[in-house]
Amino acid sequence: MDQTFRRFRQNRVNQTVRDSHAEAQLAAKDFILPFFVVEGTGIDHPLPSLTGVSHLSIDKLIEAARAALKAGVDKVLLFGVVEADEKAPLAPAATKDDALVSRAVAALKKALPALTVMTDICVCAYTDHGHCGVLKGQVIDNDASLPLLAAMAVSHARAGADWVAPSAMMDGQAAALREGLDKTGFSKTKVMGYSAKYASKLYGPFRDAAASAPSFGDRKTYQMDPRNGSEGLDEALADLDEGAHAVMVKPSSWYLDVVHAIRQRVPSVLMAAYHTSGETMMLRHGAAAGLFEWDDALLENLWSIKRAGADWIITYNAVEAAQILEARR
Ligand code: PBG
Ligand code: ZN
Repeated sequence: MDQTFRRFRQNRVNQTVRDSHAEAQLAAKDFILPFFVVEGTGIDHPLPSLTGVSHLSIDKLIEAARAALKAGVDKVLLFGVVEADEKAPLAPAATKDDALVSRAVAALKKALPALTVMTDICVCAYTDHGHCGVLKGQVIDNDASLPLLAAMAVSHARAGADWVAPSAMMDGQAAALREGLDKTGFSKTKVMGYSAKYASKLYGPFRDAAASAPSFGDRKTYQMDPRNGSEGLDEALADLDEGAHAVMVKPSSWYLDVVHAIRQRVPSVLMAAYHTSGETMMLRHGAAAGLFEWDDALLENLWSIKRAGADWIITYNAVEAAQILEARR
């Protein structure tokens, strides 16, 4: 045969060869593990909607974070979950100095100094109406929401948070946090924007876990329209202009084009992608139905996110994934 062709299969003959040709690499340090913190002590209450995830009181949170660190997962993202009687229109439980998440941050930094502690900055789990900002009538008021988000971030920064991550999708939220932090002396606390956060059906299990579903309407006036890809890049660039030190795409799997576009446009940017509650539960249900093996499907999904260009993956399966990777080394 005269026709020459490339012998790609030489790169696939066995696992060792395949490993040396692998472009996307995953390691425990790529993962950020979310936690849901509640008041009390001794509480480790598994969430029916989100397999493998629990509501944890601060003492149990420290135990779980210690176990994660042992597995090599050294970054966590905290969400606070408060009782209904703590919720109010202006989310005071989120913004006060001794907020639940702030106390959790301080306890974690004290017990585990090697841990990078990030916090979610949004008020939907603390407002009685469940929206991510301040309501004026039936409308979410963008600019009135910014001071609340900044106050929440400053409370967490004062407790020692390394990163604050605004997820409310209010315009100017990264700038508001940056300014609030700088003028209170927390210029070292970094902002990770939830830059391209889409109005997605994949947040369902999370909203059960965080008790943060809106009591009326939906989030489509602030979260992005799933039909828009270029706008995701615009949002990321805007967050960088506003002083964010990292950007994020959320959800991850159905928005890999946006991850890729940001990576192409700003190669050096630190970028996270959020493997959301719905994504992880689709994998769980797929595996339970016999569609695929959990371990392999999880890695394939996480590789796709890495391959698209994310540096960090926020995933409820961080410890499991780290253990699977370790076992296969
Ligand atoms: C709150 C917030 C949500 C998630 C992270 N922060 C839910 C929402 O916007 O309704 C979703 C995370 C997940 O699904 O895992 N603003
Ligand atoms: Zn919110």
